[in-house]
Amino acid sequence: MFSAILRPGAELRLLEERHAPALFSRVEREREYLRQWMPWVDVTRTEEDILAFIRRMLDTFASNQGFSAGIWADGSIAGVITLHKIDWVNRKGEIGYWLGREFQGRGIMTDAARALTDHAIVELQLNRVEILCATGNAKSRAIPKRLGFTLEGVLREAQFLNERYDDLELYSMLRGGYRR
Ligand SMILES: CC(C)(COP(=O)(O)OP(=O)(O)OC[C@H]1O[C@@H](n2cnc3c(N)ncnc32)[C@H](O)[C@@H]1OP(=O)(O)O)[C@@H](O)C(=O)NCCC(=O)NCCS
Repeated sequence: MFSAILRPGAELRLLEERHAPALFSRVEREREYLRQWMPWVDVTRTEEDILAFIRRMLDTFASNQGFSAGIWADGSIAGVITLHKIDWVNRKGEIGYWLGREFQGRGIMTDAARALTDHAIVELQLNRVEILCATGNAKSRAIPKRLGFTLEGVLREAQFLNERYDDLELYSMLRGGYRR
């Protein structure tokens, strides 16, 4: 079972069904903000939708294809970080994340992405971890940069969101270049 203490007062825990009400209320509070960047927000309308997401990610975990962890800060659920799209043939996976606005600006997501990258490379022995960020999403791009990921290039118009195509920057960390 994955869990990690990030710092005093902030930790990651595998998302479970019982977390659905608290996670749904966090999404509700951040809906207008998150929908600028995340395609799933507009199709996540009810607590049942969140529950279905948690169940899907628990299936993903059970089949060894990744997992979603809740980020708890100051006693409440602040956001989510996910390791997914694990490809065991090529030993790679992708990290995605979001954080409620009141928890931003403290380095919590940088710590969470560092913990998940470490887990992917050291525990799961993946060779490659990817993070994809819209070119206009400076706060998201800052995270892989801060963690020493390499910008490999731009996937042109790779995401259709809010009636526009966004370019995505592809960042990666390789096992060979990874320093704890
Ligand atoms: C992307 C997102 C998680 C980044 O949140 P964030 O709070 O900026 O990231 P962190 O928690 O790592 O905090 C970094 C900030 O804290 C500051 N900070 C303070 N202490 C820090 C520490 N110990 N370590 C790192 N940064 C620290 C950094 O300077 C930075 O602030 P700045 O942007 O003013 O320079 C958030 O903006 C978000 O959820 N956006 C919407 C969803 C989204 O875009 N997801 C990504 C899709 S690809």
